[in-house]
Amino acid sequence: MKKLEAQANRAGRLAAMGEMAVKIAHEIRNPLGSIELFASLLQKELEENVDLKMLCEHICSGVKRINNIISNLLLFIRPEQTPEMQVLYMHESLTDSLFFAEHLINTNTGIDVVTHFAERPLKIYGDPHLLSQVSLNLILNALQAMPDGGQLTISTGIRKDLHGSEIAEIRYADTGCGISPDNMSKIFDPFFTTKKKGTGLGLAIVHNITKAHGGTIDINSSESQGTECIVSLPLWQPAMNAQDKPQRE
Ligand SMILES: Nc1ncnc2c1ncn2[C@@H]1O[C@H](COP(=O)(O)OP(=O)(O)OP(=O)(O)O)[C@@H](O)[C@H]1O
Ligand SMILES: [Mg+2]
Repeated sequence: MKKLEAQANRAGRLAAMGEMAVKIAHEIRNPLGSIELFASLLQKELEENVDLKMLCEHICSGVKRINNIISNLLLFIRPEQTPEMQVLYMHESLTDSLFFAEHLINTNTGIDVVTHFAERPLKIYGDPHLLSQVSLNLILNALQAMPDGGQLTISTGIRKDLHGSEIAEIRYADTGCGISPDNMSKIFDPFFTTKKKGTGLGLAIVHNITKAHGGTIDINSSESQGTECIVSLPLWQPAMNAQDKPQRE
């Protein structure tokens, strides 16, 4: 009885802490939005002054980082939130995520971004916000693995699974530091990180979101050569949601 009571207490305390974390996260988000808006306005005013413009870019990329950490925390604390599914085009989503990460790409030294998109559009039935969180986490990991520069290649394709269903494949390949065989078994664990400023939630969230979409995430890596993350998601089929129209043509 005592053990059960202690467990119930602990669960209650954790739930209260979670609620508080959600409140704090939302409180931080509002002023953060203002900082980003004003920094980007200032950046436009400083078109002529390269040095000052650069400082603004640093502010913007810092804000984006904080925002991403908050999104991951919220997704981790409230995994029970049901995804808002709709028909979307993966190439548009990837282009949006790359645009979002542009500041970070520009402020990192010597990063080349190459995209090889399949000719056929990748129509997916998914939650646009969650899927862009997947891309953003994988793009951030790739950039952070290449502090001295390198190449990030994002390529997409379509393959068939064992049952003949079509699967969209999105590959994020970097030429960064790679992952040691020892760490490979831990990278999806929540809070596992090898970074000074990492929270270790990025890949745990990627795993949860791809799973919620009926997909998978695979990672191949060799140390000091680079890493490739492959996200596989079922392509949209009329049976998934007949009444939904594609979000954008
Ligand atoms: N592309 C990559 N190249 C090299 N190592 C990687 C790569 N992606 C992930 N890792 C390793 O996996 C660990 C866990 O990644 P994850 O994204 O979950 O957390 P993080 O990046 O450390 O922190 P967070 O994403 O929460 O800011 C990283 O700390 C890093 O050691
Ligand atoms: Mg990460």
